[in-house]
Amino acid sequence: MPSVYIETYGCQMNVSDSELMLGVLAREGYVRTDDPTAADVMLVNTCAVRDHAEQRVLGRMGELKRYKRPGDVLGVVGCMAQRLGPRLLERVPQVDLVIGPDGYRSLPELIARARGGERAADVAFKGWEHYEDVPPVRPDSASAFVTVQRGCDYRCTFCIVPMTRGPERSRRLADVVNEVTRLAASGTTEVTLLGQTVNSYHDGTHDFADLLRAVGTVPGMRRLRFTSPYPTDFTERVLAAMAGTPAVCEHVHLPVQSGSSRVLKRMLRRYDRARFLEVVAALRRAISGLALTTDIIVGFAGETEDDFRETLSLVEEVGFDDAYTFKYSLREGTPAVRLKDHVAEDVKTERLERLITVVRRVAARRNMALVGTTHEVLVEGPAKRGGLLQTRTRTNKVALVEGSPDWIGTYRRVRFTGTTGSTFTAWPVEQERTLVG
Ligand code: SAH
Ligand code: F3S
Repeated sequence: MPSVYIETYGCQMNVSDSELMLGVLAREGYVRTDDPTAADVMLVNTCAVRDHAEQRVLGRMGELKRYKRPGDVLGVVGCMAQRLGPRLLERVPQVDLVIGPDGYRSLPELIARARGGERAADVAFKGWEHYEDVPPVRPDSASAFVTVQRGCDYRCTFCIVPMTRGPERSRRLADVVNEVTRLAASGTTEVTLLGQTVNSYHDGTHDFADLLRAVGTVPGMRRLRFTSPYPTDFTERVLAAMAGTPAVCEHVHLPVQSGSSRVLKRMLRRYDRARFLEVVAALRRAISGLALTTDIIVGFAGETEDDFRETLSLVEEVGFDDAYTFKYSLREGTPAVRLKDHVAEDVKTERLERLITVVRRVAARRNMALVGTTHEVLVEGPAKRGGLLQTRTRTNKVALVEGSPDWIGTYRRVRFTGTTGSTFTAWPVEQERTLVG
């Protein structure tokens, strides 16, 4: 049987897309291998959001091409493949095929052509493509990613994603529910719904509120998560569905990008600082004990020291549980290329360091206050060190627990005993007894 090796960079949607590609190839008899030196086909699923991500992939291609034996095929897929298209074939002569996020159906055909010596790219957008008939090949796990929306119709001026993933489209609610029902039947209890602006989901009949209620009540679904929502797409209906669906977890990843209204305007985000704070307040009113994480960019074109300080103060004011922080990376083809006053690299570096310090301090303060509290955790697997188990709360906090490997995939109650500031140590506790009568 032919074997395929696939390496995934970037976001959860890429993880989910790699599972789809394995699904497309499994139908052709391919088996997965973790060893690139033994693989007949090597695929690198790429990210284009920052230049750094692309440089890493180019470096990695330099290594992977050495494992190519005669007849083997090396492909670049995903967002960087879409962005560069046939240019990638010129740039890396060992690459045989280049396929964007809407072209994975053509993998078998392009692989066959590559074997015949023909190098090809497929970077056409297909506004209808959902890979509905492709059963993803997922790892054996209690949790699964389910893509419910592809593409993006927003135009944040810094972002390449609309150019790499094409127009926004939502899967039919019934199709999503069928997939989640099948997952539940095979033992999955936690699902993360994926989309670039996932709470703007609309299949023509049903909105995101309908989707949350429908997926959240599939028998066996214990935890429902979603990422990433767009701040101003939390309608009253969606808030009510979150509050009224017990499976929906008390954690929202809410990308803010900047704390300065002036910068948000230049980014073409559809809210200012005050509006973002209103969304946070509305979410916290709807869901008690909510944990909030975010994405922040520093050094966007035109960002002054005062703008940056507004980002620092927003982190304090909201009290984020964690944040992914990035230096702005200029992407060719995005609207921000035309903006003036680009920020010097050393200023970006310095701002990033200051931001990380504040993010860590705010997170540590919140986490310290949780030591001594008890939580339901899903046991995910062995921790990287110390023979412990890695577990996760509904609020997305990671806790390391001593326990038996056969706890993996089950839910336990634990008490937090300590924190590094970001992760916790915890002890299993007796199931709380219910007093009857
Ligand atoms: N819609 C997605 C965004 C995908 S990009 C979401 O909301 O998650 C993921 C994150 O990368 C963004 O939230 C942003 O913080 C960051 N990012 C995107 N473009 C960037 C750029 N040009 N430079 C630096 N960071 C960027
Ligand atoms: Fe990018 Fe903004 Fe869409 S960050 S993915 S253009 S919502």
